[in-house]
Amino acid sequence: MLIILLGPPGAGKGTQAERLVKKFNLAYIATGDILRAAVKSGSPLGQEARIYMEKGQLVPDEVVVGIVSERLTASDCRDGAILDGFPRTVAQAQALDEVLREMGRQIDRVVYIAVDEEELITRLTGRRVCRECAATYHIKFNAPRVRNVCDQCGGELYQREDDSLSTVQERLVVYREQTTPLIDYYGRSDLVTEIDGNGDIEQIFSEISSVFEVESP
Ligand code: AP5
Repeated sequence: MLIILLGPPGAGKGTQAERLVKKFNLAYIATGDILRAAVKSGSPLGQEARIYMEKGQLVPDEVVVGIVSERLTASDCRDGAILDGFPRTVAQAQALDEVLREMGRQIDRVVYIAVDEEELITRLTGRRVCRECAATYHIKFNAPRVRNVCDQCGGELYQREDDSLSTVQERLVVYREQTTPLIDYYGRSDLVTEIDGNGDIEQIFSEISSVFEVESP
């Protein structure tokens, strides 16, 4: 089972993926997490990615396509994976189609999580992330039990550099211009299921889980 989580920054892709990988025992490929780990390590990839990420722009297609193509060959992806944050441009989607064709695999479903823009800004500017395990919280909507401490591993919570208001606004522009065409791209193959992502986290999880259950072998 290969499922893409598509949606604007702050739609809840990471929040839902965290729950879905546990429930359905799938591999998790989040390009944002992979790129942030590269930035943290100071590798040449990280140094290049940082320039784009801190401005809220997309890292070049060939860089992320290379990362995902390699990741998909790992043994944990054999039985299925959730793709979060990839593809993000039509060129990335076309490259993914090509890679999957060569592997004899295909996308089973694209879950598009739709959320109002005002809500996205509130979510992103109030988000906190664990430095150790990358678990995601929100200061109001999904607060940790102890302020700035991860419930899961005790790690310190921090605010992502790209969650400042000005960078969030730029990310939303980039999303509208470069990523929304994917809704049509996958819609043409009837692969898209739209979920209203404005409600309660557990309610949305239950709706997305139903989509996964239909696709499960
Ligand atoms: P990435 O890390 O992928 O960021 P994103 O897509 O902008 O998505 P986010 O992680 O911001 O949001 P999310 O939908 O996961 O929301 P979350 O669950 O955290 O990418 C970062 C950067 O990396 C990009 O800008 C780009 O530079 C680069 N990059 C990554 N992939 C790339 C690619 N393919 N090509 C090129 N460049 C790439 O939730 C947000 C907040 O809301 C949290 O605080 C959460 O607790 C809260 N929340 C979640 N659900 C709800 C709810 N239902 N109600 C209330 N609060 C909620």
